[in-house]
Amino acid sequence: MKNGPTVNVVLHDARVIDPLSGEDGVGDVVVRDGIITHTAELPEHCAHIDCRGLVVSPTFIDLHCHLREPGFEYKETVATGTAAAAAGGFGVVCCMPNTRPPLDTAARIMSFARILETDARVKVLPIAAVTLGQRGQALVDVRGLAACGVAGFSDDGEYIADNVVMRDVLSQAAGVGLPVIDHAQDGRLVAGGVLHEGTIAKRLKLRGIPGEAEELAVARDIALARLTGGHVHIAHITTARAVQMVRQARDEGVWVTAEATPHHMLLTDEDAIMFNAAGTPHFNNQAKVNPPLRGSEDAAAVVRGIKDGVIDAIATDHAPHSVDDKSGTPGEAAFGISVFDTALGAVLAAADMHGLSLSRVLRSLSVGPAEVLKQGLLCPRLSQGKPANLVLFDPETLWTVDTSRFVSRGRNTPLEGRTLRGRVLLTMVDGRSAYVSGLLCRERVYGGMLSGSEPEIDHASADNTNAT
Ligand code: DOR
Repeated sequence: MKNGPTVNVVLHDARVIDPLSGEDGVGDVVVRDGIITHTAELPEHCAHIDCRGLVVSPTFIDLHCHLREPGFEYKETVATGTAAAAAGGFGVVCCMPNTRPPLDTAARIMSFARILETDARVKVLPIAAVTLGQRGQALVDVRGLAACGVAGFSDDGEYIADNVVMRDVLSQAAGVGLPVIDHAQDGRLVAGGVLHEGTIAKRLKLRGIPGEAEELAVARDIALARLTGGHVHIAHITTARAVQMVRQARDEGVWVTAEATPHHMLLTDEDAIMFNAAGTPHFNNQAKVNPPLRGSEDAAAVVRGIKDGVIDAIATDHAPHSVDDKSGTPGEAAFGISVFDTALGAVLAAADMHGLSLSRVLRSLSVGPAEVLKQGLLCPRLSQGKPANLVLFDPETLWTVDTSRFVSRGRNTPLEGRTLRGRVLLTMVDGRSAYVSGLLCRERVYGGMLSGSEPEIDHASADNTNAT
């Protein structure tokens, strides 16, 4: 990773929330040479941050993002994508293998690891493909890839339609203790669809993607997880019935976990409509995402699933695209939303809308994903004597989404112009600054430089921020 030297800093009077220990109270966090330490051992030369009204928690872990390198560097690179992840408060991200070439062999994973060594700003855990070329047929070398340290297997973007392939990968992945992450949607029911099959699709006269495409696939995945004893993780779950199936399967002891995205928690197919000057409705390509934004009852059920823990994790499915790739007719535009820059704000907006507590949000962004990865050690904690893996954010500041200020190369979001609350101010990864907001330095830091804040990224400018 390419962050600066370790940091000496005192975070004064922060609300410290540590979801693993259940701690939630106001206090100071002292970081000395990058290690969280006792207040009595204040470093001599250090920055002090006035954290009144701010929250400190362990860094977020993202189970699902697209960094686009190698092959699609015009959309995003490891450098830009992980800088955006850090700006979003993420200290660990799992990246999907739908690159060019795809991450489907040990040699490709090793070559990708070399890019990570020089360019990554946060920890990146690659997910390997399930099938060679993500073509849905020949299985990858599961053992060989596991030995390279991949975090799981997925043909994300493509459903693994062949039941025998899915059965085999679930069995083999269980043998190496890793999850199979499925883009659970029947491909033929999705084909040609643009948005959720419902009243909005009818109104816009566009082909829809029915919720049943997901539900059929989730039912199949649960059946094969039961048969093999393997661990299936349902990527970006979107329907109330799919959430219910996961709930029931878990009650029966099937090893199934699930994630939901900020956009499927907050937005619905109503957010996919735009109106031209004459008041004629049309589809907003920025809201085109796979699986699609569903109806309000589905979104509410997804948030309920987060609330009661049936959905283990909030995962971004950060899918950056170029302006060209998102242009054209609704059918031509690429699926995907760029999420890192807005993740916290979108999740807090959904939390406000559906009554989700901050502690549950933070749990679903840290402990939950760590448990899915079965890497307990990975789970950041605010423990003394450990390297600081923490995020400092202002939960109340209102700001307006302005994609020209995104750290990500991908500006594709339906949230442009929307007012959100909650801004990340500082992200520390292994005791080093991975992201420091210019706003923090101007307003809150005193007594010294925030050492290691190389380079300061002026992501949140004062004129784009209205403190409440
Ligand atoms: O909307 C999506 N975009 N869904 C996926 O599953 C893939 C992703 C991408 O790679 O752009």
